[in-house]
This record gives sequence, C-alpha cells and structure tokens, in this order.
Amino acid sequence: MTAELKESTLAGLEEGDTGGAFLEARHVTKRFSLHKRGFWTRLFSRRKAANGDQKGRFVSAVDDVSLTVSRAETLVLLGESGSGKTTLGRLMVGLERLDMGKIFLEGKKVGYVRDRSSERGRLQMVFQDPGSSLDPYLSVADCVREPISKSHGSKSEANSKVRECLGLVGLDANTVMSRRTSELSGGQKQRVAIARAIISEPQVIILDEPTSSIDVSIQAQVLNLLIDLQKMKDLTYVLITHDPNVARFMGDYIAVMHLGKIVEYGTPEGLLAKPKHPYTQALLASAPKLGELLPAFAAVSADPQSVIVLPKGCRYEPRCPFAMSKCKEREPRLSPTSEEPTSQVSCFLYQE
Ligand SMILES: Nc1ncnc2c1ncn2[C@@H]1O[C@H](COP(=O)(O)OP(=O)(O)O)[C@@H](O)[C@H]1O
Ligand code: SF4
Ligand SMILES: [Mg+2]
Repeated sequence: MTAELKESTLAGLEEGDTGGAFLEARHVTKRFSLHKRGFWTRLFSRRKAANGDQKGRFVSAVDDVSLTVSRAETLVLLGESGSGKTTLGRLMVGLERLDMGKIFLEGKKVGYVRDRSSERGRLQMVFQDPGSSLDPYLSVADCVREPISKSHGSKSEANSKVRECLGLVGLDANTVMSRRTSELSGGQKQRVAIARAIISEPQVIILDEPTSSIDVSIQAQVLNLLIDLQKMKDLTYVLITHDPNVARFMGDYIAVMHLGKIVEYGTPEGLLAKPKHPYTQALLASAPKLGELLPAFAAVSADPQSVIVLPKGCRYEPRCPFAMSKCKEREPRLSPTSEEPTSQVSCFLYQE
C-alpha cells in the first residue's frame, strides 16, 4: 500500500472504513480568525458575522486537504513559509481543532488533544525550533520523561526508559541527563526533542522542519538518525520542510503545499526531477543547491499571495507566468497525471 492523495473519493467513508490506510487526513480544513479572541472581540465578531461582515477576516491555513500515508513511510510536506504545512501537521497530531474534516489512524478517529488521553502517545510532534519548544529550565531527564510521567510506573522505570531513548538518539545519558536543556547545543536539543517524541512509543511522528534550526554540518546526522529510528521502530513520518534537498533525502512521497492546498503530489524521483506545477517549478528553481547557504525560496517568497483575500480561481494565478483566462475563473482540482501512476497535479496546463 503506497501513500496516496484522495481529493474527493473519500467523502462517503465513515470511521473504520478507510480502505486500509494507516494514517489518513480527510477533507481537513482550518481557518484562523484575524480577531483577538477576548470575550468582547468574540462577541463583536459574532455580531459582525450575523451582519455578514466576516468576509476576508480569516486566514485559510489548510483548505480541504485529503491524503493517506502508509505505515513506516515518510510523506514530506514541501512548501514556502505560510503555505499551511505546520498547521496541517498540528491538525494531524490533534494539537489544533479541525474546522472541517477528520483524521484517522488505523481507521480510528484522532481527536483534539485536550479531549483525549489514551491515544495521545500514538502520534507525536517534533516542533520546528527545539530552542523554544523545550522548557529551558527543565533538566534533560525531566524533559524527556514528561510524556510518560503519568503512565509509566515508578520513576526509576521511567528513568531507565529515558536512558534508553537518549542512547537511541546518540546522547550519553550520564553526561546530559542532569543538564538543563538550555545548556545544550542546537543539535543536542534536537536529539532531546526526538528522544522526547519516541519515549511514548508512538506510531506516527510529525517532524516540523527538523533540521532548519541546526548547524548545516550536523543536519545530515540528524536526518540519518531519523531514518535509523524509523527502520528500528517502524515509524511513520510526516516531515515538513521548505528544502527540496531534505524532501529528496527523506521522502517516499512529497506533497507540495501552496496557500493551504496541495498543488502537486508524487515520488521524489518524479516530482523533483520533472516538477509540473508552476509553483513547484519556482520553488525548485529558487532553492539553494546542496551546500549553498542562500535562503531557500527567496525568489518566490518576494511576492507572497495574500491568504486572507484569495483569488476566485487558481490561488497561484497572481504569480503564475503561464496563467490563462480560465485560471482566473475556476479553481483547478488535484488530478492524476498521465505520466506516473501516483503523481497528481492541480493545474489547467495538465487538465481541461
Ligand atoms: N494560530 C494562528 N493564528 C492565526 N493565523 C495563523 C495561526 N497559525 C498559522 N496561521 C497562519 O496560517 C497560515 C499557515 O501557517 P503555517 O501553517 O504556519 O504555514 P507554514 O508552516 O507552511 O509556514 C499562515 O498565513 C499563518 O500566518
Ligand atoms: S492553473 Fe493556471 S494559474 Fe494556476 S498554476 Fe496552472 S497555469 Fe498557473
Ligand atoms: Mg511551519
């Protein structure tokens, strides 16, 4: 079973009827209000909504995304900043409430994290910047132990699990356990964040830009560590990145995101060698080559499309050098391409 995207075929399926998919997002949608959420603003927003005055007051972060990921595979979410990757990752792990749609793991619905407890450990997330996601005042031992502190018997049992996990991520437990996380290097912090993620024996880990905050010289080490852990523990990854080189190295499949939508999907070999969507082409053209230190996507990020007032037709139309008149009128659908069985693209250049 391979990872695949399902734009519309899943609408009728219910819980437990996921066609054998391991991890599945179905019509997942999330909008963020631009209003501050205090009591008076909420009341004010409701009045405005009742008056039909809410137009353009939301950020459409993720819009009707459906996809599946097979067990022990890696799906990469690739896209420029603001395309909705982190929000989709947070929705998949239950850290954000869905506005619409559902997430399933082995056919079982994944709920919002505050509304559940037992299944929490099955999905974990490694956040983008361990420097800010790890509590700087906690010791490494406390930090790694925290996800199992309520469930894992005695403190000594939990501590031996902490030691085991620190060893698995290549840290010497005797040296680091009593140190504060703030005393560690960027690479060590990322390893601690990974140890914290694996301690509850999850089935799925969402990895949000796992190498973007660490030194270039150790990025490959961390990626290789993630691959080793995946093989050892049969882990399923959803890896978020803006870097096509990371996507190529890690991905079994790549989904390219633009303004909350998946615009292209395929294998690294197919998608990165022959990108079809003009947005994917621009991303790859402006990404640094291996070893360069230029900021990725500088060229395409210079004029980002507003996520608040979206065009009626294709969301890439205002930036697209190939735009046609129909691109302004209708939104293209993600559809299979003729060249590769799994590849899909959302662009009128490849469909009627
Ligand atoms: N909590 C939030 N409140 C309001 N807007 C948000 C929030 N989180 C994300 N957004 C907006 O949603 C869009 C997608 O953001 P994000 O998922 O972080 O994208 P990416 O990870 O691809 O950079 C952006 O326009 C961002 O500003
Ligand atoms: S649908 Fe039209 S505007 Fe959108 S990417 Fe394709 S050619 Fe460009
Ligand atoms: Mg992000």
